[in-house]
Amino acid sequence: MSEPKTICIAGATGLAGAYMVHEALHQGYRVHATVRDVHRAERLRRFPGASDRLQIFQAHTESPDSFIAPLTGAEAVILACFPTPRSGRDGRPVAELEPGRAWREIVAPSKVACRQILQIAGQAEVSAAVLCSSTASAAPATPSPVLNELRDVSSLADQRATGKYMQAQKTALEQAAQEAADQVGLRLTTLLSSMMVAPALLPWHMEGHVLRFLAALARGEPGWHRQVPSGSMSLTDPADLARFALAACETPAVSGRYFTLSDSWTWARIYQEIARYVPATGLPAPNGDVPHLPTLYDFSRRDSLGVRFTPIEDMLGRFFQSLSLTAADAPLRDAVAD
Ligand SMILES: NC(=O)c1ccc[n+]([C@@H]2O[C@H](COP(=O)([O-])OP(=O)(O)OC[C@H]3O[C@@H](n4cnc5c(N)ncnc54)[C@H](OP(=O)(O)O)[C@@H]3O)[C@@H](O)[C@H]2O)c1
Repeated sequence: MSEPKTICIAGATGLAGAYMVHEALHQGYRVHATVRDVHRAERLRRFPGASDRLQIFQAHTESPDSFIAPLTGAEAVILACFPTPRSGRDGRPVAELEPGRAWREIVAPSKVACRQILQIAGQAEVSAAVLCSSTASAAPATPSPVLNELRDVSSLADQRATGKYMQAQKTALEQAAQEAADQVGLRLTTLLSSMMVAPALLPWHMEGHVLRFLAALARGEPGWHRQVPSGSMSLTDPADLARFALAACETPAVSGRYFTLSDSWTWARIYQEIARYVPATGLPAPNGDVPHLPTLYDFSRRDSLGVRFTPIEDMLGRFFQSLSLTAADAPLRDAVAD
């Protein structure tokens, strides 16, 4: 029997990262998982296959050299360790930061760290890298009627000029990653995801993300919105994202940007679907507007990898069903995650 391949997954305790680790172990990989807090990461050891194929490393993007050990011996790396910062270093919300500070604290650190980590990956002879990014980098001033990830690229200058620093973090991250990958000869695939909905694999996934709002709705409490927004939202199942990321690592012809989301629905339709699972008490009030049309995507690149993307109704259904399964600290919701 051949040796399993080794993959480094950075940000393994996150929502996307945990699904990556779970799927990589399921597919037989040896996993080098990077985390900031090794105690928190103990729960990853409960994943099937972890006892003999999971190795946990402490690494922080502010010390890129901490990635040398987990990258050593890995054939591929998945970077899920650059969530969008929502506040400056002292906790002030991004919107309240003056422009220079917002750039220095929100955008620049991820960009610098990503470049250095990929340079280290190149030196360690890692051959493929996957960067988890978001559709925030696919919003040019004049978008195509049907968005295409190669054509529809956000302008970093526009994002900076209009104070969209959280979105700029993603655009800058992608640019830095591509420059570093080109420099060291690394095949880079960038995944543009949107709002992630799936059963929490680790208890703290319920504390952040939209999952917290959905759980409030399930208790009959108000969630994110008081009134249904007129716009639309795109959704990603992190289990699909994980399968896609691994397929990208394994397919030499794959590189560049890919949409990794199931579809876009109007918020009115999303809340109509949610209403099947939750009491009416917490649901937002109708707004009386004619809903905007959902965003249209060209999925030809996404679908070229043959990875199935979960319909939004199934994504929401599985999330709400998972809430009634076990207590928050139950071992692992494999029945739902598989
Ligand atoms: N969740 C969504 O709805 C969504 C939507 C679109 C795109 N995305 C993108 O997908 C990627 C992953 O998102 P996510 O939702 O999985 O994020 P997440 O749940 O917040 O997890 C982020 C992970 O990165 C780690 N991390 C954070 N800062 C770090 C640092 N300075 N050094 C090392 N590790 C660090 C965190 O470790 P700790 O556990 O120690 O905090 C955690 O493991 C991000 O690029 C995000 O922008 C997410």
